[in-house]
Amino acid sequence: MTRFACVTGADHGLGLAFAEGLLERGYSVVAGRYAAGEGALGRLAEKHPDRLTLVPLDIASDGSVAAAAAHIRGLTDRLDLLINNASILGDIHAKATDPLNFEEMQKVYNVNALGALRVTNALVPLVLRSEDKLVVNISSEAGSIGSCWRDSWFAYCMSKAALNMQSALVHNELKPSGGQVMVFHPGHVRTYMRGTLDETGSLTPAESAGSILGWVARHKEFMGEKPVFLDYRGEALDW
Ligand SMILES: NC(=O)c1ccc[n+]([C@@H]2O[C@H](COP(=O)([O-])OP(=O)(O)OC[C@H]3O[C@@H](n4cnc5c(N)ncnc54)[C@H](OP(=O)(O)O)[C@@H]3O)[C@@H](O)[C@H]2O)c1
Repeated sequence: MTRFACVTGADHGLGLAFAEGLLERGYSVVAGRYAAGEGALGRLAEKHPDRLTLVPLDIASDGSVAAAAAHIRGLTDRLDLLINNASILGDIHAKATDPLNFEEMQKVYNVNALGALRVTNALVPLVLRSEDKLVVNISSEAGSIGSCWRDSWFAYCMSKAALNMQSALVHNELKPSGGQVMVFHPGHVRTYMRGTLDETGSLTPAESAGSILGWVARHKEFMGEKPVFLDYRGEALDW
């Protein structure tokens, strides 16, 4: 039976690599498209017209998420895997003693924390109809309170910590039906988080996404009372 997956923020970076990796693993994929002009995702869709569907999706917008969910319900009555990947960085320099841009922080929180919940909330009925009932949230080591070393990156770190809490709450609801949430830190990946390609990353998107999808395929081994918070190598991180 065909397995269906949905990935947010699939235009480039890790999201695109997740879409590619899922296609390689035989999934039918719905990829959330944020920037309509992006070429790589369009080319991937041309290569897989039968198994890759592009859906306009701005996870910061209630209306966009509702429209995307309606589109997805027209394609499938179940979703085996939802990957909440889309995210933005915001300012990473200002410290508590500097002027802080709270308006920008609200935008980051709306995408990184509320955006993932907006998508999960809209798609969870489809997730619950699948066998795997699996939600994967792409977080970051930056969201770990236990390992926090930074004194800036307020919006990003706080929004990822909120995403981690959200993961625990959703996991608690999915668990009695045999579902689960997995939370991942993808490593330092050569993507566009900083606006331009970050050449300093130690991993390609394909390496990180491929490794994470390997752990996702073994999700039943990680089923438990709490969601797992792993890096791309499968090492557990502090919450
Ligand atoms: N790269 C790293 O080293 C690293 C480390 C830790 C965690 N992560 C996490 O990995 C995930 C993927 O990030 P990435 O590194 O692949 O960065 P990326 O290249 O910037 O990809 C993020 C994607 O999300 C899209 N997006 C932004 N706002 C959106 C919205 N409102 N609705 C839907 N999509 C939106 C972006 O579109 P535009 O670019 O067109 O705005 C982009 O396609 C994120 O959750 C990030 O926090 C990355």
